[in-house]
Amino acid sequence: MADWESLLRERLGASRFAHSVRASRLAAEIARAHGLPEDRAALAGLLHDFAREMPEAAMAQIAHELGCDPKVPAVWHGPVAAHILRRDYGLDAADVLSAIARHTVGDPAMTALDAVVFVADLDAHGVVPGLHELALRDLRSASLAAVAASLAHLLQRQRRIDLLAVRTWNALLERDML
Ligand SMILES: [Fe+2]
Ligand SMILES: [Fe+2]
Repeated sequence: MADWESLLRERLGASRFAHSVRASRLAAEIARAHGLPEDRAALAGLLHDFAREMPEAAMAQIAHELGCDPKVPAVWHGPVAAHILRRDYGLDAADVLSAIARHTVGDPAMTALDAVVFVADLDAHGVVPGLHELALRDLRSASLAAVAASLAHLLQRQRRIDLLAVRTWNALLERDML
């Protein structure tokens, strides 16, 4: 993972790099609590914001090709990161790429590993009280709490909501577990 860290350090500012390392550690811890592969969670956690500081025009071009909602640019960096990591850096672990692609708003069909990284990202920001303990105990409830916090944030600021976030919310309500 040392190579990925150096590569990431070149692409991100210091605070976002630190956030990524923190998300990586938390993702590994949450994965361990659920018997999921720690190394995959750690790698996806580390690389989830790989495209976050890309020039917007370059990101918009790829986001367009990938069919992302053109009106919600904040969501693009997940799918774009997964795309670039596969195309330009040879990362071919489908589960890791999926967790990276889905980290911003989740996905109605998210896997347990996707949920680990999704929750670890918010956990690393430390903005949702009790999220870490909940994530260690119950991934589905933690994912619901994470989506709820994201939606509340957007509603309070009168910002556009990607329909994928709403579909994720509805799908999580109907699932028994992750
Ligand atoms: Fe992100
Ligand atoms: Fe992040």
